[in-house]
Amino acid sequence: MGKPKKDQILRTKFLERLCHWSIVVCFFFAATSGISWFFPTFSWMSSFLGTPQMARVLHPFFGIAVFLGLCYMFKRFMHHNLPARTDKIWFQNVVPVLAGDHSRKLRIGKYNAGQKVLFWLIMASIVVLLISGLIMWRAYFAEYFPIWVLRLAILAHSVAGIGLILLIMGHIYLAIWVRGSITGMVTGYVSKRWAAQHHDRWAEEIESGKADH
Ligand code: HEM
Repeated sequence: MGKPKKDQILRTKFLERLCHWSIVVCFFFAATSGISWFFPTFSWMSSFLGTPQMARVLHPFFGIAVFLGLCYMFKRFMHHNLPARTDKIWFQNVVPVLAGDHSRKLRIGKYNAGQKVLFWLIMASIVVLLISGLIMWRAYFAEYFPIWVLRLAILAHSVAGIGLILLIMGHIYLAIWVRGSITGMVTGYVSKRWAAQHHDRWAEEIESGKADH
C-alpha cells in the first residue's frame, strides 16, 4: 500500500497479508456456522451463509480453506516462531509487559513468546479439526468409519473448534490492544518506534540487515 515513509519498516509481505485476511473471512463463516449447531441460542448464525442447509454444505469447505491458508502461513512464519533462549525473558516479564511497561529490553524477535505459543496452538487445533472433520464428513467419508471413531471425531472436533475460537478471540483482543499491529497487518508496515518497543531484537536485526522480513 503506497511507499513506506522513512521511519517505517516492512513487517508483513503482501501475500502473507492477503493470506491472513482471506483466512479471517473463511474462519468467520466456518466458526459461526459451527457455533450455530453447537449452541442452540446461536442457531441464527447459520443464516450468515444463506440457509442452514447451505451452511451445512459450505462449512467443511470453509474449514479446508482455513487449513490451506494456515499451511501457507506455517511455511512463511514457522522459523520466526521457533523457541529461542530469549523467550524466557518475555515470560519472566509478562506482568510489566501486560501493564504496558516497555522500559526493559526483552530481546524479543519477530514474534514474542506469547505469540509463539498462540501460533503453535492455532496450528495444532487446525490439524485436529481437519482430521476429525474429514472423518465425520457425512457426504464423503463418515460411512467408512465405525460409530465409536465418529463419536471420538465429533468430540475432538468440538473441543478443537471451541478452543480455536477462544484462541482467536484472544488473538483479536491482543491485536487491538497492541496499537499499531493491525495497521502492520493491513498496510504491511510498522514504525521503527513500534518495532523497537515491541520487538527490540527483531528491530535491531532489521536495521543491521541481519534479519529477513
Ligand atoms: C479479525 C480477526 C483478526 C485480527 C484483527 C488479526 C490480527 C493479526 C495481526 C495484527 C497479526 C500480526 C501480529 C504482529 O505483527 O505482531 C496477526 C498475525 C497472525 N494471525 Fe491474525 N488476526 C485475526 C484473525 C486470525 C485468524 C482467524 C487466524 C487463524 C485462524 C489468525 C492467524 C494469525 C497467525 C498465524 C499470525 C502470525 C503470528 C505468528 O506468526 O506468531 N488470525 N493477526
